[in-house]
Amino acid sequence: MDTAAVRPEADDGAAWHPLCRSADLRDGGEGVPFDVRWRGHVCRAFAIRFRGRVHAYLNRCSHVALELDWQPNRFFDVTGQLLVCAAHGALFDPASGRCVGGPGRGPLVAIAVREADGWIHWRSQYDLQPVVF
Ligand code: FES
Repeated sequence: MDTAAVRPEADDGAAWHPLCRSADLRDGGEGVPFDVRWRGHVCRAFAIRFRGRVHAYLNRCSHVALELDWQPNRFFDVTGQLLVCAAHGALFDPASGRCVGGPGRGPLVAIAVREADGWIHWRSQYDLQPVVF
């Protein structure tokens, strides 16, 4: 992936970062993982496609700070309509990250994404930055 494609935004210093190709995300299918630095800590994050649109969240449950996926990159429940946490079954709306069932204590942390020209990018902000190795 071309990291030189990071394009600074003029308004608040945020930037868009390449995440994956559009074809890598199937509606209700497996997510694409990526790493971010959130509030100073390296965290996993993931992007999914739901009803045609791409969404991304920190891979961190609002119940206990555990990763959601019950198998690598599988975030949807069997219906493909909700995101489910493997640990204790919290359910989240894929479009908003809002907790809609189970022991979750609030929404997932959303990450802004955009899709254009066959690519998906995520947007960094002051407390959410790319991981630099
Ligand atoms: S850690 Fe996700 S439901 Fe408990």
